[in-house]
Order: sequence, then C-alpha cells, then structure tokens
Amino acid sequence: MNNTFPLLAPSILAADFGRLDEQIKICVDEGIKWIHCDIMDGHFVPNISYGADIVKVAGRSDSFLDVHLMIENPDYYIEQFAQAGANLLCVHQETCSHLHRTIQHIKEFDVKAGVAINPATSLHTIVPILNEVDLVLVMSVNPGFGGQKFIESSYERIEKLASVRNEKKLDFLIEVDGGIGSKNIKKVVQHGADVLVAGSSVFKSDNIAARIQKLTSKLTNSKNLELSQNN
Ligand code: DX5
Ligand code: ZN
Repeated sequence: MNNTFPLLAPSILAADFGRLDEQIKICVDEGIKWIHCDIMDGHFVPNISYGADIVKVAGRSDSFLDVHLMIENPDYYIEQFAQAGANLLCVHQETCSHLHRTIQHIKEFDVKAGVAINPATSLHTIVPILNEVDLVLVMSVNPGFGGQKFIESSYERIEKLASVRNEKKLDFLIEVDGGIGSKNIKKVVQHGADVLVAGSSVFKSDNIAARIQKLTSKLTNSKNLELSQNN
C-alpha cells in the first residue's frame, strides 16, 4: 500500500449509482486513492446495499478498492470479491467464528486483510489477530446505514488501539468509518486514525470536489496539532 496516510476513503454507498463513474472520477481528480465499498446483506446488518458488480465498476477507476463486508458467512464470498478487484477485504469480528482462518483465506487471494469491530464489541476480542491483519476498521456508528451520527466513545477506542499497536510494535492501519465530516475529521486523525471513511459528507454534498478539498485539507499535518483543537 504505497499511499500517504492519513487518507480519505470516500464510501460510494452515498453516491448516485446512475452517475457512479462520473462521481468516482471527481474523487480521483481530487487526488483520492482509496474507494470504500460497503457490502450489506440484510442479515448481519438491517440493510441491503450492492454486490460485486458495483465493486467492478469502482475498479475501472484504478483506485485502491477497500471492501467492507457487512455480511454473514463472509468466507463464501471472499473469492468473488477478490476477483471483482478488491485490494483489501475487511470482515467483521462479529461474523467470524474462526477469524484466524478467515484472515488466512483472504490472504490466499493476494488481497490485504482487515478486521472490523462494531461500537459495542470489546477491542480485546481482536488482540490475538492483530499481528495477522493489515488494517483494523473501528466502526464509529452501528453498521448498516450512511448518514448516522459519530459515536463519541469511538475516540477512546481509536486511541487505545493505536497504543496497543505501539506497544506491540505492529504496523496495521487504523480505519474509522461512520459519521465523519469536516467538523470531526481532524480530531479522528489526532486520536490515531490512518484511513478516514466518509460517505454522506462527500457524496451528498452539492459540490463533491470542493467537499473533498475541505476534508483532505484537514488531514494535512493534523498529527502535529494539539488534541484540544477540534475545528
Ligand atoms: C455504514 C458503512 C459506512 C457508511 C458511512 O454501515 O460502513 O461506510 O457508508 O457513511 P457516512 O459517512 O454517511 O456515515
Ligand atoms: Zn463501511
């Protein structure tokens, strides 16, 4: 993953699917390197989104495809999403009875492997797998829908995870997903996030390019600023 972090990963869940190529091109023209794809099955989460065909459309942009699987039995679909062009597949801890096996399964397809955790899932449940993953996705809303409010206790979880990473001398990325916009993006980075997912704040904006510029400008040098600054 030869990218500079922290980076913004727009979630196309909030995009206009009739103009998907065009909207992703706006992102790419603004320097976006990662596109976040939300796969929902109506079982693990109470909503259905889209499948591998939309991931293929996103792949036409040559972006790094960060695929978030909010589905039960993810093992059944790993090959399909790898073939659709996923560069990173992220499974939920809550859906995997054999998380270690599932992570190895993802790696067999030469795809980066991530694990996601819901807001009410203890960080302790993923500590044994941290040395095997490329990324941990901290959910800052309950998964299933775009446009929800950022859960404030997520800051403490991001910081705790960053300190475990430091203590264990590991190098997985920390991704944060849900309720991120121009008012809180800087603070999320300051607590240790490397990848910032944003759906509604990017695609529901009247001017996608201008919104991306606003969000990415807040990422620059954010790690040098004081935690008390949250503008
Ligand atoms: C929520 C998804 C998110 C969603 C974020 O279940 O995992 O990726 O698209 O949307 P916003 O940024 O609108 O909260
Ligand atoms: Zn997501």
